[in-house]
Amino acid sequence: MKSVTLKDKSFKLFIEESTILNAVDAVAEKVNKDLADLNPVIVCVLGGSFMFTSDLVKRLSFNPEIQFVKYSSYHGTESVGTVSENLGLSISIENRNVLIIEDIVDRGNTLEKIYEDFKKYKPLSLRVASLLFKPNAYQKDIKIDYVGMEIGNEFIVGYGLDYDGLGRNLKDIYIIN
Ligand code: IMP
Ligand code: MG
Repeated sequence: MKSVTLKDKSFKLFIEESTILNAVDAVAEKVNKDLADLNPVIVCVLGGSFMFTSDLVKRLSFNPEIQFVKYSSYHGTESVGTVSENLGLSISIENRNVLIIEDIVDRGNTLEKIYEDFKKYKPLSLRVASLLFKPNAYQKDIKIDYVGMEIGNEFIVGYGLDYDGLGRNLKDIYIIN
């Protein structure tokens, strides 16, 4: 069984690249069906979703505008996340159909902050795609339109997801030991 050590923690293979890419294929198929005729803006939420966004946009049947935003979450000891914007949109999304690309939705704090920020710009529609979703951790009501895979509450790394900045380059996803 493949495993990897990042700093002080060891992780073992959890989701293989081929399984990830099958999930990306399935999301791309739905996005193509729903958005090809809507001239959408695709927004990659850095840093975690760079790899998912890359593989997803290569599978699109249309040529969308692609934007990048960056948000960071600071989790306090009482496990309440405060999320702030580090890098914003550089175009107007007013009256545009927007698809937000997330790597993973856990409690949903990050998604909620982005979603509320974006709604203020008056997009025509706002959709969300996330490669991974932790349904048992999710505490919000925002609909996630496209989910690649659902997982439990374990901490994972790889395919863009990091532990303390490390592990983003791994092509498979690993779970903490
Ligand atoms: P949320 O705000 O609780 O939904 O957490 C979302 C953010 O926390 C994600 O965009 C990731 O950056 C990070 N995150 C949540 N779960 C994991 C995980 O299992 N591994 C790595 N990062 C995670
Ligand atoms: Mg993220």
